[in-house]
Amino acid sequence: MIILGIETSCDDTCIGILKITNNQKHILVNLKENQDTLHAKYGGIVPEVAARGHLYIIDILFQHALKFANISAEDIDLIGVTTTPGLIGSLLIGINFAKGLSIALNIPIIYVNHIESHILSSFISDIPIILPMYSLLISGGHTSLIYYENLNNYKIIENTHDDAIGELFDKVGREMNLPFPAGKHIEQIALNHHNTLPLIIPSILSFSGLKTHFIRMIRENKYHPEDIAQNLQMSVCALLHKILKKHCKFESFIVAGGGVTANKYIREFLTTHWSNIHFPHIDLSTDNGVMIAYTAYCQHIKKIL
Ligand code: KG4
Ligand code: ZN
Repeated sequence: MIILGIETSCDDTCIGILKITNNQKHILVNLKENQDTLHAKYGGIVPEVAARGHLYIIDILFQHALKFANISAEDIDLIGVTTTPGLIGSLLIGINFAKGLSIALNIPIIYVNHIESHILSSFISDIPIILPMYSLLISGGHTSLIYYENLNNYKIIENTHDDAIGELFDKVGREMNLPFPAGKHIEQIALNHHNTLPLIIPSILSFSGLKTHFIRMIRENKYHPEDIAQNLQMSVCALLHKILKKHCKFESFIVAGGGVTANKYIREFLTTHWSNIHFPHIDLSTDNGVMIAYTAYCQHIKKIL
């Protein structure tokens, strides 16, 4: 089965094509066109600009994806498209493109929840699922710990009280004059740096206090950027560890998902402290079309979901 995944919930136009034969997953293509330069001068995402950005590129990206995957549109068996959550203007571009294809090719379309697909993305790497499981969602828009008794029955046991973890990276990065989104740049600045500053660890899952703290440090103009960057990474690691410790056992089965899982320092820290934590392949950490294709497949065959 060949599945096309379309993701346009925010500012990245993503097309993924996944081939699944006898349960073997083979990523044919994973294309992403970011709009970083379009939004750079605003210091954040402008919804109207994002929607128009998707509109200009989506058909071209789809044609590129077919070429890279070396297939024709008629080879696609199923389409998955993100329908929620996200910016409505951006979502509509992907949804309408997917609907048009579905009608033209006479193939089914599956509407996918973006968050669910981040959670499932670790399973594209063939790790066996163990229930009950915990899911640590750390993205630009969400930060939660979710408990799954089984895959149809879940409960959000921790949710950020304010900002999402990715927002902390992005807002602190903006203050440091880094390009948006700033997470990967903060990671780069912190690389191999030893922290010399005390850690600030909130008592609850909250990032706005940390944001104010780091912005104040930057404005004081007496700290090195690498100290700030590394201190921020270590503080969020300590906070995530503390939240996990509150609910999970050392050997609990945990899958992490969302763009912040691209951070190698955070991955290493959590892997050291949690024996059974799993991450998506680094290329599937931030928003992508492959995770949407995989979630559509799971829903279609009702095997996992
Ligand atoms: O999941 P995602 O691609 O989009 C949402 O669904 O929100 O996550 C984007 C977030 C941004 O805040 C970005 O700064 C952060 O993920 N991010 C990172 C890294 N790569 C992306 N944060 C820390 N370190 C990274 N290497
Ligand atoms: Zn996402």
